[in-house]
Amino acid sequence: MDKKVVFSAIQPSGSLTIGNYLGALSNFADLQKDYQCIYCVADMHAITVQQKPADLRRRTLDLIALYVACGIDPEESLLYIQSQVPEHAELTWVLNTITSIGQLNRMTQFKDKSKKQKEVYAGLLNYPVLMVSDILLYQTSYVPVGEDQRQHIELTRDIAERFNTRYSPTFTVPEIMAPKVGARIMSLQNPAVKMSKSDADENAFILILDEPDVIRRKIKRAVTDSVGEVHYSDEQPGVKNLLDIYSSFKKIDPDEAEREFASAGYGELKECVAEAVVEGLSPVQEKYKEIRGDKKELERICRHGAERAHYMASKTLKKVYRKVGFVQF
Ligand code: TRP
Repeated sequence: MDKKVVFSAIQPSGSLTIGNYLGALSNFADLQKDYQCIYCVADMHAITVQQKPADLRRRTLDLIALYVACGIDPEESLLYIQSQVPEHAELTWVLNTITSIGQLNRMTQFKDKSKKQKEVYAGLLNYPVLMVSDILLYQTSYVPVGEDQRQHIELTRDIAERFNTRYSPTFTVPEIMAPKVGARIMSLQNPAVKMSKSDADENAFILILDEPDVIRRKIKRAVTDSVGEVHYSDEQPGVKNLLDIYSSFKKIDPDEAEREFASAGYGELKECVAEAVVEGLSPVQEKYKEIRGDKKELERICRHGAERAHYMASKTLKKVYRKVGFVQF
């Protein structure tokens, strides 16, 4: 039997944190055994907020290299750049014609993002429709994304069902694949908020590509509390977050980590957490450097991925064009 399709994408709009790594990238590799995985660099989404062209170009290739460094096999999975597969834009146009503006206006991410813009452009409103196209082009069954994307997946299901009803069954109706119950990684400086690369305080987050000394320094400065004992408890959110980071990298239960540090002080805890992160990231960082430095190989991966993605996507788009009544010779 053919494997079911898993689709996910990341925008090349900045460096990724260990939260992105533990919550998404590190799981993407594991899914490859059981699913046909399709991983995309969403550069067309990225331009819905203004980008410096040179930065966007560089970060797009950074992200392809990072996917590979995190264990995505570009032969087994489809790994490609969104703008290199024209069907994404083409299907988006068709789906725009059956998407309600009211529903787009109610997307919480749109509301948040548009508040930050002086002028709100149509691309930002239609951002979710492009996402819907990404997913539907490949007859995706599962979309592994964070909770913040749930509303967009619901929209995807609505639009797929609307098209299937209005014309005839065409799209697989996908489901969100909830991240495996694991920790939400919080800010090292304020454990009440999620770790984010856009935090003004650089000590609040650890990037996947941070140097070992930077990682050690940031963890040393992490906020704890005055209790002085290591417990995995909501009353000690800073310590809890450190235990979450430790246990995620060590692939153990937080309870086990708590026992390990039962008689430790915060200094010792932090040293061990830092070593776990440094050790966990080092194979990723090494592989990243190797592949990012090999322009030819990166280009080959992108071309190969785009070609295979285009082949799959064009099958779906042809069906769509036929069903809506476009002339095809
Ligand atoms: N909007 C997603 C994010 O910012 C990225 C994305 C684009 C995506 N297209 C997608 C995720 C399709 C899942 C499926 O995280």
